[in-house]
Amino acid sequence: MIEKTLVMLKPDTIKRKLMGEIISRLEKKGLDIIAMRMIQMDEGLVSSLYEEHLGRDYFQPLKEFIMSLPVVVCAVQGENAILSVRKLIGATNPQDAAPGTIRGDYGAITRCNLVHASDKPETAVRELGIFFPELI
Ligand code: PPS
Repeated sequence: MIEKTLVMLKPDTIKRKLMGEIISRLEKKGLDIIAMRMIQMDEGLVSSLYEEHLGRDYFQPLKEFIMSLPVVVCAVQGENAILSVRKLIGATNPQDAAPGTIRGDYGAITRCNLVHASDKPETAVRELGIFFPELI
C-alpha cells in the first residue's frame, strides 16, 4: 500500500553534514521525497511533534536538542513507507540499531539519533499535518 510518512532530519544530521547521505538512502530504497523544508523548531512545534513524550524525564533534553539548530522536515511517500523508513533508520538507541541502518551506521547515543520518523499510520497523519497540512 502506498503511504506517506513524516521524516525529520535532526540537528546532529545537519551539523555532521549527513543530510545528503540520509536523503540518498531514502531515495535508493525507492521512496519519493514529495515535500521538504528546513525550519527552526520552536517550543510549540516540539510539543506538538513529541506530544506523547510531554512530561517524560527526557523531554527537556529532547526539546533543547531539537531547537539547537535548524532541522529538515520531509514528507516521504512510497510502498509501506511508514515501516520501510523505520527499518531504514533502525532502533531508537543507536547502540541497539543494526549495522546498515542509518542510526546503526552513524549514531552513538539516543539523543543524537539523527532522524525522527512516524511510527504508525495515525502518527504519520498527525505529524504530517503539523508541517504539511496540504498533504493530508
Ligand atoms: S520510542 O521509540 O518512542 O519508544 O523512543 P523513546 O525511548 O521513548 O524516545 C522518544 C524520543 O525521545 C528521544 N530521547 C531523547 N532525546 C534527547 N535526550 C534524551 N536523553 C533522550 N531520550 C530519548 C528519542 O531519541 C526519541 O526521539 P525520536 O525522534 O522519536 O527518535
